[in-house]
Amino acid sequence: MTSPEPFDTVLVVDFGAQYAQLIARRVREAHVYSEIVPRTITAPELIARRPAGVIVSGGPKSVHVAGAPALDPAVYDAGIPVLGICYGAQLIAQQLGGTVARTGRGEYGRTELTLASSGGPPSVIFRKVPPRFDVWMSHSDSISAAPEGFRSTAATGDAPIAALEEPSRRIYGVQFHPEVIHTHGGQDILKSFLYDVCGCRPQWTMTSVIESSVSEIRAQIGGERVICGLSGGVDSAVAAALVHKAVGDQLTCVFVDTGLLRAGEAEQVEHTFREQFNIDLVHVKAADRFLEALDGIDDPERKRKIIGETFIRVFEEAAVDLDDARYLVQGTLYPDIIESGTRDAARIKSHHNVGGLPEDMQFALVEPLRNLFKDEVRAVGEELGLPEQVVWRQPFPGPGLAVRIIGTVTRDRLDLLRAADAIVTEEIRRAGLYRELWQSFAVLPVVRTVGVMGDERTYSYPIVVRAVTSDDAMTADWARLPYDLLERLSNRIINEVPGVNRVAFDITSKPPGTIEWE
Ligand code: XMP
Repeated sequence: MTSPEPFDTVLVVDFGAQYAQLIARRVREAHVYSEIVPRTITAPELIARRPAGVIVSGGPKSVHVAGAPALDPAVYDAGIPVLGICYGAQLIAQQLGGTVARTGRGEYGRTELTLASSGGPPSVIFRKVPPRFDVWMSHSDSISAAPEGFRSTAATGDAPIAALEEPSRRIYGVQFHPEVIHTHGGQDILKSFLYDVCGCRPQWTMTSVIESSVSEIRAQIGGERVICGLSGGVDSAVAAALVHKAVGDQLTCVFVDTGLLRAGEAEQVEHTFREQFNIDLVHVKAADRFLEALDGIDDPERKRKIIGETFIRVFEEAAVDLDDARYLVQGTLYPDIIESGTRDAARIKSHHNVGGLPEDMQFALVEPLRNLFKDEVRAVGEELGLPEQVVWRQPFPGPGLAVRIIGTVTRDRLDLLRAADAIVTEEIRRAGLYRELWQSFAVLPVVRTVGVMGDERTYSYPIVVRAVTSDDAMTADWARLPYDLLERLSNRIINEVPGVNRVAFDITSKPPGTIEWE
């Protein structure tokens, strides 16, 4: 992967994926471009990237474990500033001739750190923090002797060398985690390293990201035609808006209405892209085709497969009319790139991504978001003037409402679920919780239950309300919605959606549940 020009780049060497991602995000929040590289990177490979600095991340391992991963030691001699965090600091100590001891006195959680008061002025990386402050620790081994030429710059009760440095070689290490919010002034420490040690300029702003991305897209596409599949979600919308800014009329967007969308979604896409942005939009109304293909199918995996395949066929047919297009836009994000390189997870569900098109389609890919985290994508979307409802829309699965209807998918059941889902969204928005929740939606199970409405016995469907908080959808917790909101949801759904006589609230986290019901 090449860094976007002309940004100063700080590389984060990944010794534990979660830490590395958070560090990279914090560096970018300091307006410096940051990328994650695998711990197996060699010094020549790293030097070839011409980074302004290197951060060696924390990780779950001990440097004493057999086969513990290490950094190519030639990196320390490359003249590039290095900051080691937690495991990274211990690596610096161990690889450069100091000692990391198994003291049996680990530190976990909030710990008070004191800057060294002898041996000269405080470290340049501690320029903006007070002499004592709280940091977040998570380590069992401790640095017991600094390498020759290094000095200890801070200590805690149980770690006499909680930070160390060799300023003439521009090598720094901190045992604590400056990237977590519980470390007071953690961001200031990172900024001091980035600006004062690495000499980085704070250039990574969304305005400059857009500018550089636009010129990159122009250079890639030239005068060719390009198409983009729109799903209604934020990623494909922002990707399309960026490409349109770069090449205008050369872009055609294809929006496949599967009939499995939420209320108002198709209209919103049409309004935003055709009317507001004046983008050439092909709106394929394919609900009948999808419903026919799904007729009688109740197995979740088969539903997903059928929807994925039907989507591809419909898209291919639409693309026949656009057969001089050589380029296809995809809303791939940076975490997708990191994860496809590192994750080896068991398949829980076969995800169908609306952006994921068949391999035999001979397009060159344009992926303008491949360097961005989700929050940056939203910031770019806002900067480009996309409406709030698009930029802040909650994630929605490619197979749409079909995986929120348990059992067979029919037009009637879709209408019922869509109406209930619209009430959930409306009330959640009204309560000011929409952005705070990762997802909130309605599910239609296959069972019917007995009720009594207006002195009459009813035997109808329940609606399940699902609302979760999450950072990345890998894990999630059920949202503690206020009782009065739950009451409003129950009343409105039962009163306004014919065929529903009961509302339940799903209180399952992930794991053991998944966010969607199928
Ligand atoms: P689960 O249900 O596995 O979902 O906890 C995790 C996240 O992924 C979304 N999801 C999908 N997204 N295609 C998508 O693009 C799919 O087939 C799909 N299935 C689930 C889900 O909404 C949640 O945000």
